[in-house]
Amino acid sequence: MKRAIYPGSFDPVTLGHMDVIHRACNIFDEVIVTVPINPAKHAAFSTEERMELLRIATEGLPVTIDSTEGLLADYAARNGVNTLIKGLRAMSDFEYEFQMALTNKKLNPQLETVFIPTSSEYMFLSSSMVKQIASFGGDISPFVPEAVMDRIKARLTPGNV
Ligand code: PNS
Repeated sequence: MKRAIYPGSFDPVTLGHMDVIHRACNIFDEVIVTVPINPAKHAAFSTEERMELLRIATEGLPVTIDSTEGLLADYAARNGVNTLIKGLRAMSDFEYEFQMALTNKKLNPQLETVFIPTSSEYMFLSSSMVKQIASFGGDISPFVPEAVMDRIKARLTPGNV
């Protein structure tokens, strides 16, 4: 059984993330979407909220939602998974992700990183953009999964971010 880990902040999940998840599901039997717990990094949604949104958005897909503390390289080893998935939106993502891939491989020599280029219609999209649009009362429907849109909107109403 081919399993892969797709890590990310998912604060909140966007259609760009969903595009990568769907395409990863075409390659792997199970995709473990994991939200690293990083108390130092301020997030608009709590880890539990982000996991719940992901659970709803990925219903029916061969996806497991999880969270993890510490290094991803150790998390992958603990779970017996040798593949990390990263989405790439542009060349500007590449330099940092390439550095992370080499670092993770040094920390866990079994661990390979597979890059999935985001579909062109989502190249511009980021969670930060969604938060900014919502905080000004804009329409986020073109950017987030329909199943979780109302929950995201409710949490990101102007003044609530
Ligand atoms: O969606 P993001 O914010 O780009 O995700 C970044 C993430 C979660 C992949 C990154 O912060 C991460 O890998 N965190 C876990 C800590 C770790 O293993 N770092 C790499 C070695 S320094």
